[in-house]
Amino acid sequence: MTLTVSELPQATDSGIPAAVAAPATSNPSKGKLVLRGIDKNFNGSNVPALRGVSLTCEPGEFVVVVGPSGCGKSTLLNIAAGMIKPDAGTVRLDGHRVKGPGPDRAMVFQEHGLFPWLSASQNIAFGLKMAGVPRSERDDRVARALNMVHLTHSAQKLVHELSGGMKQRVAIARALVTEPRILLLDEATSHLDAVTEARVHANLSERAGTRIVIAHRLSTVRDADRIIVLADGRIAESGRHDELVAAGGAYAELVAHQLA
Ligand SMILES: Nc1ncnc2c1ncn2[C@@H]1O[C@H](COP(=O)(O)OP(=O)(O)OP(=O)(O)O)[C@@H](O)[C@H]1O
Ligand SMILES: [Mg+2]
Repeated sequence: MTLTVSELPQATDSGIPAAVAAPATSNPSKGKLVLRGIDKNFNGSNVPALRGVSLTCEPGEFVVVVGPSGCGKSTLLNIAAGMIKPDAGTVRLDGHRVKGPGPDRAMVFQEHGLFPWLSASQNIAFGLKMAGVPRSERDDRVARALNMVHLTHSAQKLVHELSGGMKQRVAIARALVTEPRILLLDEATSHLDAVTEARVHANLSERAGTRIVIAHRLSTVRDADRIIVLADGRIAESGRHDELVAAGGAYAELVAHQLA
């Protein structure tokens, strides 16, 4: 599905509209991620970062990973992205073994890593340009991605002219524009206010791809299809918000802290 710029609902950076129809990834039935028996022990560390982690994410599922600092959240995402090799276990995306980074998975970090000499839209277009995507298609896809993160009117700003949260949104748009089967966000919306964060996630939910997100804010976490609680490198709890609150474990404690 390709929308032209004129078909896009108008979004402003300040007056953010409700969730807009987002582009579907090319095949909505794709994006099944299966991690089996993942162990990771970094050199020089006497405590494993991950131990025996198995996780299946269904196509289109929105999974949030929570847990205390150092429990292995980023390591898990990096392994899913193919950026870190596990010591044991396998990662498969739609049946194919993940052995390194690939265009079917896009990861966004808390630190945005934008090119400072390019504008917001040029940053977003960069990967498409390198891949030889023609100018007109590139412009359409960049416009849609900008719209999804509510930055249509900041497209021409240079990186130093953007706020911290705007930079994070450009980084998300840069990942989205490649239409990955899996989007991996490692605290990638941490600089956003709660309302903007919720609206960006609402838009991301409209796309067909699978999404695994490390987030802390309850308003984002509780909307997930599934919440994974990591503790000391293991999956300690897994379920929907209501189920985990009722279970009265670590997640319930986290919620109680945020509401206190
Ligand atoms: N490149 C690395 N080299 C050595 N140890 C590492 C490396 N990356 C992570 N670790 C260790 O692995 C463990 C898990 O780290 P990880 O970054 O996955 O935690 P996290 O849950 O993402 O924490 P935070 O919420 O603080 O970001 C920690 O003990 C950390 O020191
Ligand atoms: Mg981390």
